[in-house]
Amino acid sequence: MPLSASGTSAQSSFFIRSEEKDPYQYQVGFGNRFASEAIPGTLPVGQNSPQKCKYDLYAEGMTGASFVAPRAENYSAWLYRIRPSVAHQGFVRLPDNPDLESCFLPLNPKVHVSPTQLAWHPFELPPDGEKVDFVQGLKTIAGNGDPTLHEGLAVHMYLANTSMERKAFCNTDGDLLILPQQGRLDIQTEFGKLMVRSGELCVIQRGMKFKVLLPDGPSRGYIQEIYGEHYTLPELGPLGGYGLANPRDFESPLASFDIDQSPWTIIYKVCGQLHECSQEHTPFDVVAWHGNYVPYKYALEKFINVGSISKDHIDPSIFCVLTAKSKQPGVPLADFLIFSPRWDVASGTFRPPYYHRNSATEFMGLLYGVYGGRSDGFQPGGASYETGFCPHGVSYEEFKKASEGELVPRRISEGTIAFMFESSMMFTITDFAMKRSGKLHMHEPKMWDNLKGQFLNHIDEVNADLKAAGLAPLGAELKQ
Ligand SMILES: [Fe+2]
Repeated sequence: MPLSASGTSAQSSFFIRSEEKDPYQYQVGFGNRFASEAIPGTLPVGQNSPQKCKYDLYAEGMTGASFVAPRAENYSAWLYRIRPSVAHQGFVRLPDNPDLESCFLPLNPKVHVSPTQLAWHPFELPPDGEKVDFVQGLKTIAGNGDPTLHEGLAVHMYLANTSMERKAFCNTDGDLLILPQQGRLDIQTEFGKLMVRSGELCVIQRGMKFKVLLPDGPSRGYIQEIYGEHYTLPELGPLGGYGLANPRDFESPLASFDIDQSPWTIIYKVCGQLHECSQEHTPFDVVAWHGNYVPYKYALEKFINVGSISKDHIDPSIFCVLTAKSKQPGVPLADFLIFSPRWDVASGTFRPPYYHRNSATEFMGLLYGVYGGRSDGFQPGGASYETGFCPHGVSYEEFKKASEGELVPRRISEGTIAFMFESSMMFTITDFAMKRSGKLHMHEPKMWDNLKGQFLNHIDEVNADLKAAGLAPLGAELKQ
């Protein structure tokens, strides 16, 4: 039976339904250099690698950036543990999970290109009687690049019904941004424990071992995996010091360790391949740690929305919670945006998203609630996709309502959190998403047929204006 011990710090409590109470404690801040001890006085003083660590623990260093990265992007941690990670019995290659993809280059015959909008009904949980844990239940939907290029990303779903027991996962390909949609995730990491519910995000960086328990049973959620970069907070520019996601609302775990010398399995994902190693001890034996390369979570209900208080529709970058840089200066690899309860007050303005064709790729999901203005049955646990320059916007009915309705201040997205993974990269779509999931549905192109050319009803008026301006009228053949 494992023994456990954990430290103490600030209590997390916010907007949490009683059945979703978080049993763990956290330390707060984004990008801080934290220090945490499950047994006080364990961390070495004034150095990282003493000749002998307290209690004969092993010191293990871990970097999440190059040694010489600038200080603001220099991520590392020191872990003081009962046995070091190197104490294992070697690796064995596992069979491929056919639904897990990491190479999104179009030369891969297992990925597809879509110039048009795609949407998916909620992805199905595993059937009763089939035990599927978080790692086995990873299903890739779309992505860009390849982890070996150190640039690109993957969008996965997890569809699971079984807790991981003496088994941990270590993804060496990229950072995972995890968004539960159904069921909490009780995540044990080398740095401590996090309870993550629907409405919270959790980030677990490259190379960290973790296991996932499902306290609420069958669980579904979304994952964005980014290759080669780490998530940061967006710059605030003219907003000043506060707003959007405030750094103090991010929570990192406290040191927590088990004493467990029984057989464990660690599943590694390396360049998209799965490899397994066995060891005779738990990987969750870190008594104390310090550093800034640590997992964290954030309650999306804490997001401070900003928007237009005069007129016009502000670009959706105002909804950015976390961003990751690409190698091109000023161009994000991935922005994580949310659409949550807020006021809609702009005067003299077409308030819904205007018709657009952006360079960005947009992948949307719904954590909970109802996302208005869509005609495609967008449900929690489902998704939608638009590639770069794919034109989209609201239906004619929504257009007419928004063009002619009275513009009163109103609440929107009440009780809802929808999100978007927005990327400057072109995505390809997996076989699972296009075929095996059975959940793909395409927009019916006919839904746009009633977006008639209303301009043509105004030819007489236009010609009168042209004449008044001393210009030639439009050709009579333009009249309907
Ligand atoms: Fe869009």
